[in-house]
Amino acid sequence: MELINALNWRYATKKMNGEQVADDNVQQIVTAAHLAPTSSGLQPFEIIVVSNKELKEKIQPIAYGQSQIIDGSHLLIFASWDKYTDGRIDGIFDHMNTERGLPLNTTDEYKATLKAQLLGMPQEQQAAHTAKQAYIGFGTAIAAAAMLKVDATPMEGFVNNDLDELLGLKAKGLKSQTILALGYRATEGDWLQGMKKVRRPKEKFVTEIK
Ligand SMILES: Cc1cc2nc3c(=O)[nH]c(=O)nc-3n(C[C@H](O)[C@H](O)[C@H](O)COP(=O)(O)O)c2cc1C
Repeated sequence: MELINALNWRYATKKMNGEQVADDNVQQIVTAAHLAPTSSGLQPFEIIVVSNKELKEKIQPIAYGQSQIIDGSHLLIFASWDKYTDGRIDGIFDHMNTERGLPLNTTDEYKATLKAQLLGMPQEQQAAHTAKQAYIGFGTAIAAAAMLKVDATPMEGFVNNDLDELLGLKAKGLKSQTILALGYRATEGDWLQGMKKVRRPKEKFVTEIK
């Protein structure tokens, strides 16, 4: 299967060669994340695409100096909603109904149940829920990059609050969760390159109940 081959090819690249990823490929990776499923279709996250050199130089120290921040050509920053609100939920359902040519009240009953569930959670739990949705998009983007033979380093190794401040995310009600650095693997200087891909034994990972 093509996807399995791509997932075996990819690895968390530690050193990129500075080559630019073409815009069309970046857009396809972003589109894959955009098409990812989310709970109730709320898509409670956004992606900030950074290719600006000066900005990447400011992000690097926030990401503990990781080199892929600079030698990758693009950073996809996945930032999730800090909380759910009536307005945010209404906006999603109004858009969905409008796009489907349905009256706006089509989903009122479902929406009321959903709002009671989500808005009834403490804000911390709401933020954890939105973050989980962002990770679905993140994983989908990683797989899409691999299919395109674009190297991609998934990153949680950065100081979220500092990145939020730098990008003005707090004012937008967003919290950074992950960075996906895109580029092409360098031929030298990457300790992980060529190492065997290791995963937990599959029989310990999967339980089959027949
Ligand atoms: C959510 C997440 C955060 C990660 N953060 C970093 C990171 O900050 N820097 C890094 O070099 N690798 C990071 N990794 C890469 C993992 O260490 C790597 O995916 C894992 O060891 C499996 O190896 P592979 O991706 O090469 O198959 C991260 C991976 C994920 C999924």
